[in-house]
Amino acid sequence: MLLVVGGAGYIGSHTVKHLIEQNQECVIVDNLVSGNQAAVENLYNSALINNPKSQAPHFEKVDLADCLALAKIFKKHQISAVIHFAAYAYVGESVTNPRKYYLNNVVGTLNLLNAMLDAGVNKIVFSSSCATYGNPQYTPLDEKHLQNPINPYGQTKLIIEKMLTDYRVAYGLKYIALRYFNAAGADKNAQIGESHNPETHLIPLVLEAILQRTAADKKPKSVVKIFGTDYDTPDGTCIRDYIAVDDLALAHYLALEQLDNFSGCLNLGTGIGTSVKRVIAVAEEVTGQACPVEYAPRRVGDPPILLASNKMAQEVLGWTPKTIDIRDIIRTAWNWQLNRKF
Ligand SMILES: NC(=O)c1ccc[n+]([C@@H]2O[C@H](COP(=O)([O-])OP(=O)(O)OC[C@H]3O[C@@H](n4cnc5c(N)ncnc54)[C@H](O)[C@@H]3O)[C@@H](O)[C@H]2O)c1
Repeated sequence: MLLVVGGAGYIGSHTVKHLIEQNQECVIVDNLVSGNQAAVENLYNSALINNPKSQAPHFEKVDLADCLALAKIFKKHQISAVIHFAAYAYVGESVTNPRKYYLNNVVGTLNLLNAMLDAGVNKIVFSSSCATYGNPQYTPLDEKHLQNPINPYGQTKLIIEKMLTDYRVAYGLKYIALRYFNAAGADKNAQIGESHNPETHLIPLVLEAILQRTAADKKPKSVVKIFGTDYDTPDGTCIRDYIAVDDLALAHYLALEQLDNFSGCLNLGTGIGTSVKRVIAVAEEVTGQACPVEYAPRRVGDPPILLASNKMAQEVLGWTPKTIDIRDIIRTAWNWQLNRKF
């Protein structure tokens, strides 16, 4: 049985879907602070479309702060390995309220690792982030790049990576920390997708603005802000590396299989850059509708270009992203928006 902490969230739900399609048994632990109960039901429905033998995941509403409840989970289920997605992940909020981030991300993970130790479970795949690198000294970023996070969110992820290393040395923990770049897109069956509240990621913001603009209701319409048009990039806007959420899900499955052979950190990205303006242009092409935009000054702490070298993930996991055309990624996100149930 696999324990997926944060499995009711965006990337977690897509990963559980992939795992149960591969006939793995999963128990999701989530406090639903940003995840969704409906995602748990819908991921199962989607998995059934692809594999009618998929087994429904178990669900336990538990907070990582609750050590007693965590211990009970490990007693109740025979856990072979853990995948840990649960975290707060708003960079701006982490600057104004770091306490919230250190408590949930760092202390929450510490509680989880200790519950694993007490239960004799020694395998974990952890959601890290390219935010651990800080401002790039060169691109594409490889795993040897200096890690110098520029916000508390990135710090929490780096601290956890260091905890994992210390637990490996002291207690024989087997871990893989996956440093995601920009997760994007949705389930190809459009049953689950990105549903953050508030939403801060570019692709859903663009698609939501397009949907609202054409909606008949009188609700306030959102406008997409483009922060900075004077960067040293071909069209002046920031460039990011969008990785399809289904490809992330696959990488977790492969990482679980490699835990006996490798412990360490791996970048997950495509190595392909897409600018803010290009994302908007492709979204307009995919939806056939215009996106309302507004130009705004640069935001503090936004590097011009963030691109992954995924060479090491290819070597260690035998993983290559399958959906690399931004049009295909945005199309899945659009289909999800049109079919959205939560
Ligand atoms: N989305 C991205 O582009 C991206 C990029 C890099 C890293 N990450 C990391 O990937 C992970 C998943 O991201 P996401 O976008 O799916 O986020 P998400 O908010 O959709 O999912 C996180 C899940 O964890 C749960 N959770 C949070 N705190 C918890 C706690 N104390 N106890 C139990 N459950 C808790 C939430 O309810 C939610 O279901 C996060 O750790 C995030 O930092 C995401």
